[in-house]
Amino acid sequence: MTQDIYDKVMTLAKRRGYIYPSFEIYGGVAGFYSYGPLGTLLKHNIEDLWRKIYVLQENCIEIDTPTITPYDVLKASGHVDEFTDLTVNCSKCKKSYKIEDIIDKNITVKDAIKNDEIRCPTCGSRLQDIHPVNLMFSTIIGSGNGRQAFLRPETAQGIFTDFHLLYRHVREKIPFGVIQIGRGYRNEISPRQGVIRLREFSMAEAEIFFDPLDKNHPKFDNVKDKKLYIFDNKKEMHISLEEALEKKIIRNQALAYYMYITQEFLLTIGIDPKRFRFRKHAPDELAHYATECWDAEVFSKRFGWIECVGIADRSAYDINAHIQASGTDMHALRKLGEAKTVEVKRIIPKMDTLGPLFKEKAGRIKKILENMEPLLDTNKITVELDGKTIEIPENCYEVVKKKEKITGEKFIPHVIEPSYGIDRIFYCILEHNYVETKKKGEKYHVLRLSPLIAPIKTGVFPLTNDEKLVRIAREVDQKLRKNGIVTYYDDNGSIGRRYARMDEIGTPFCITIDHNTTIDNTVTIRDRDTTRQERKKIEKLPGFFKKHCLIV
Ligand code: GLY
Repeated sequence: MTQDIYDKVMTLAKRRGYIYPSFEIYGGVAGFYSYGPLGTLLKHNIEDLWRKIYVLQENCIEIDTPTITPYDVLKASGHVDEFTDLTVNCSKCKKSYKIEDIIDKNITVKDAIKNDEIRCPTCGSRLQDIHPVNLMFSTIIGSGNGRQAFLRPETAQGIFTDFHLLYRHVREKIPFGVIQIGRGYRNEISPRQGVIRLREFSMAEAEIFFDPLDKNHPKFDNVKDKKLYIFDNKKEMHISLEEALEKKIIRNQALAYYMYITQEFLLTIGIDPKRFRFRKHAPDELAHYATECWDAEVFSKRFGWIECVGIADRSAYDINAHIQASGTDMHALRKLGEAKTVEVKRIIPKMDTLGPLFKEKAGRIKKILENMEPLLDTNKITVELDGKTIEIPENCYEVVKKKEKITGEKFIPHVIEPSYGIDRIFYCILEHNYVETKKKGEKYHVLRLSPLIAPIKTGVFPLTNDEKLVRIAREVDQKLRKNGIVTYYDDNGSIGRRYARMDEIGTPFCITIDHNTTIDNTVTIRDRDTTRQERKKIEKLPGFFKKHCLIV
């Protein structure tokens, strides 16, 4: 059977320790893959480069929050009600399918199933029972009557729920950005796309908080003339950020800026620009929290265009939802030129009636009520708690008008979110950099990984097993490792074979120690892509590798 590019890449990935199907000795589980030794190094290098861009270059702060998330958080964020896939079941074999996977986008799902136009892809029987299925994995915190929770579907909520603390941390200056790299979980209905649709996956997300009155980016001028690869669902364009904004193709500078950062990142780590584009979400594709979203899509010969990054304008959706549900003041402050006195309405909870009526919930309700101004403009007051709307009787509170001196106006920040699917990016890098040639009549594989992310930066080979050469090679190997360069020492087989092993795993350089080394302290460095060799002094090696390969 002929293998397509995916089969070839995955065969190499498994053989050389990049990716393993998880739990294979028990038959494996769809949607779960493990990173092998080289895969782990490569993934860390991708994440470290991403971190370098967002933390060092873009001045974001990084946090690390739990992956297990209480029900209340995801109820407030809309994931409990909205994070679903429309699903259909087979009437005979009972398999479930995500509608999107089996149906052409342009046909009406209900009619097609009713008219028997599409059938079960597995057994050919009638399909029935279209229903939304929530994609979150649920769990219980504690035993017995423990608290309902989910494995997080995105890292973002861990950032939003700490917004008030983070805002204080940056000394109340907006815009500011917060990043998180970590696992996310989606209980996909029936994942059939190998490493492209994982149930447990790695995300790198940035949440950048802006004043809704000013979604300009402070560094926009530096990049306004750079060009983006854009597909507006009709035609491909290669246009500058400034032009995309002028023509209202992209709605604000902040979105355009992070699209550019994303494009730079993906092309730097080895995505082929000819197989890259940004595609705008149609209104019916938008996630429940987004007002505008651009996908950075990468083309795969097996899967077509794959969404690898989503860059969304989440507006005030999430912070507002958490203010409403938790009662915590998560507003930001727009400083005024000078302080002014304003009349405000405040709710004063009456705990002598509120307490007995709402018992253990009373404390949380009190907090919500105290923070409701300025949303209050009616006498009927309701609060959202544990997923329920609770009406608060009038004898439980008093509304007072007060004059307060204010130094700023409160507002709910808007969020621009670049969200990267690390595993998909990882696979696309392998696919785009996989080269199959022939050498001396035999198949020859090269992974042209960028030196910045290649897991091993150089092979280190003594030309022969001469004791002197072996000793020097070992010293060179250790010297480089001490300098943070990951090496692979190999004294086994012909030099050609050793080069071939390194080419196949994407190692950009190979050092050979030969008899000249013993005379003048020089070694050869072979470049994987040109196969050219040059001699270099051993003392110059750490500098050479730091220049070409190191992320910091
Ligand atoms: N945070 C973006 C997403 O969940 O896809």
